[in-house]
Amino acid sequence: MKKGKKLYEGKAKIIYASPQKNLLIQHFKDDATAFNNQKKASIEGKGILNNRISEYILSNLNQVGIKNHLVKRINMREQLVKSVEIIPIEFIVRNIAAGSLSSKLGIEEGTVLDRPLVEYCLKNDELGDPMVSREHILNFNWLNVMDLDWITEECKRINDFLQGLFRGVGIRLVDFKVEFGKTSNDEIILADEISPDTCRLWDEKTERKLDKDIFRKDLGSLVEGYQEVARRLNILHEQSNIKPISFPKPKEVKIKKK
Ligand code: TMP
Repeated sequence: MKKGKKLYEGKAKIIYASPQKNLLIQHFKDDATAFNNQKKASIEGKGILNNRISEYILSNLNQVGIKNHLVKRINMREQLVKSVEIIPIEFIVRNIAAGSLSSKLGIEEGTVLDRPLVEYCLKNDELGDPMVSREHILNFNWLNVMDLDWITEECKRINDFLQGLFRGVGIRLVDFKVEFGKTSNDEIILADEISPDTCRLWDEKTERKLDKDIFRKDLGSLVEGYQEVARRLNILHEQSNIKPISFPKPKEVKIKKK
């Protein structure tokens, strides 16, 4: 498929025009950033893995009625997606305390939450994506109450589905971030990507991290972690020569009951 002009370049993806009306091409780069762009690297193969993993997750979500922007994967690094206007809120769902929940609120990493916790962050790199409340979202008309409530429920449905999907392959879904967009018909659908860049994924037995924390915290080979996720989801058919990874003895946090 012939790519049109570049419309937007983010930290991990590029959006191009496509020859088809209301459709765009989403290209996955190898670039990795953390801590609001303060830490950067190019990690060969990351884009290919995220393209495959996100395609797998979004097409499975579609099958259970969670509408999203994915039309189809078109090559190793690109997907055809529906054109949407991205809602400027990042929706974070947490099942186990980690990351900024632990560093900002002092909740010990590994603490299992009583119920999924949904957080909202304003999508604004210059401000460092600050956390905002439901009241901020309504007060500044970033969303109306009906749409905010609907998206919050949709996030919980996505969480239920993803928890099951990953539990089935021995992975704990610690938390994740999703974005939504509005189509030209004003329909709200899930957009962006769901991949180890946007989730925290811990091996159930060893608690080894299989997500972007490998890069954030210098825990080893990011590509090996992402390959392990793809291998367990059984989506690397044409690359069956990929070696299974031998896990080092865990020295990471233990899951704690509150
Ligand atoms: P946090 O603990 O750093 O707030 O991250 C929560 C989840 O959101 C985690 O799975 C990583 C994901 N995330 C993104 O996808 N993009 C971001 O810019 C940030 C800060 C987090």
